[in-house]
Amino acid sequence: MSKKLITNGTIVTASEVYEGDVLIEGGKVSAIGKNLAREGAEVIDAKNHYLFPGGIDPHTHLEMPFGGTVTKDDFETGTIAAAFGGTTTIIDFCLTEKGKPLKEAIDVWHNKSKDKAVVDYSFHLMIGEINEEVLSQLPEVIEEEGITSFKVFMAYKDVFQADDETLYQTLIAAKELGALVMVHAENGDVIHYLTKKALEEGKTDPIFHALTRPPEAEGEATGRAAQLTHMADSQLYVVHVSCNEAVEKISEARRKGAEVYGETCPQYLVLDQSYMEKPDFEGAKYVWSPPLRDKSNQELLWRALKNGELQTIGSDQCSFDFNGQKDLGRGDFTKIPNGGPIIEDRFSLLYSEGVAKGRISLQKFVEVTSTNTARLFGLAPEKGTIAVGSDADIVIFNPDASRTISAKTHHMAVDYSAFEGMEVEGEIVSVLSRGDFIVKNKELTAVPGRGEFLKRQKFNTSERSEERFTVM
Ligand code: URP
Ligand code: ZN
Ligand code: ZN
Ligand code: ZN
Repeated sequence: MSKKLITNGTIVTASEVYEGDVLIEGGKVSAIGKNLAREGAEVIDAKNHYLFPGGIDPHTHLEMPFGGTVTKDDFETGTIAAAFGGTTTIIDFCLTEKGKPLKEAIDVWHNKSKDKAVVDYSFHLMIGEINEEVLSQLPEVIEEEGITSFKVFMAYKDVFQADDETLYQTLIAAKELGALVMVHAENGDVIHYLTKKALEEGKTDPIFHALTRPPEAEGEATGRAAQLTHMADSQLYVVHVSCNEAVEKISEARRKGAEVYGETCPQYLVLDQSYMEKPDFEGAKYVWSPPLRDKSNQELLWRALKNGELQTIGSDQCSFDFNGQKDLGRGDFTKIPNGGPIIEDRFSLLYSEGVAKGRISLQKFVEVTSTNTARLFGLAPEKGTIAVGSDADIVIFNPDASRTISAKTHHMAVDYSAFEGMEVEGEIVSVLSRGDFIVKNKELTAVPGRGEFLKRQKFNTSERSEERFTVM
């Protein structure tokens, strides 16, 4: 493995911004300082560029069967797009099936990703039911597979939705075993009723996806999950928080001392419900669950990130072509596959809309796109920062350039971008993963299969959590 020296960059971590050279040996950062010896090193001049820790995307759905089809980006196209977008680690959701061994589901996900990923990756495990059989397998999932986060869906009735007993027992088990429980928090039962009623009334357009999943249904489920977490004295991470109703419940729980964390996504910070009213079925491009919300939620979400009430940014990458996949829901909004392509733009949208527009600091940007995620999901200190001893996952970023987002130039495998034509400040020039260039001067230099599966550490409440609390 080659020796590299990145000179004159501005290094950004969750706590500092400073100028320095970064020496990389054996895939790790071996020294940081001024005028480091260059012997035998490939020298990369990063003057006037930021050096950010590689982004960590805690929320992706690659090659996932969903909504009567399969997400278009797989572990190859999805992680190539991630790399171009400054993301060097992803955590994907491994789906399980009731009555089947968990190990079988994990193997399915290993087979999907094997020989494909260009960035490092890990899995969260979906829990759809809890019984003696499932409980007996969880220690192995954590200890042997290194999968230390579980996902429970409170929505998608008749598909993924689990009941409160399942969620509560998962929280109890996670507390005992050292895992973090993640929830998709929307009241699936109420949504099930509202969608049935809308269809009966002949309301079939994409906008009714939003109108049948009101923010109160997200706030209610978020509050319920937070209360159950408090009762179980466990730990919870609420994915894709879209609205103030949910932020309030997270904040309230945190004020009471419950260990509850929240993630939001660029789509909720940048887009709003009005996009779903676009004519000619174009609104289907903007169908996410939870749905895009009224624009007034955007500044509240930014503020929650800034204040630390929300801790991370996920992409919720879940891509479908407009032609041929989103199409499945013409004439019936409930059949529109939910989700969008965004793994490539998560990092740059956050920089452009967050840092460049003065909403968050550089340090906060690093915290929410990388550092907090590494800490919460058992990837620190190797991932999530630029420090001596950490993996050399580094984004070389030019703040003085800009680019226009377009499906014509993105690397995701889908035929549209939800951010088509949007200009973003800053440009990702090169990306290193464990000391190797995976993107060099905006060209892909990685081969599929180089990404490594990461077995993660347990979630625990000892010394590591003190570190968590000082930042979050
Ligand atoms: O619409 C979404 N969010 N699709 C992906 C699946 C999920 O709920 O995260
Ligand atoms: Zn039903
Ligand atoms: Zn979800
Ligand atoms: Zn998701």
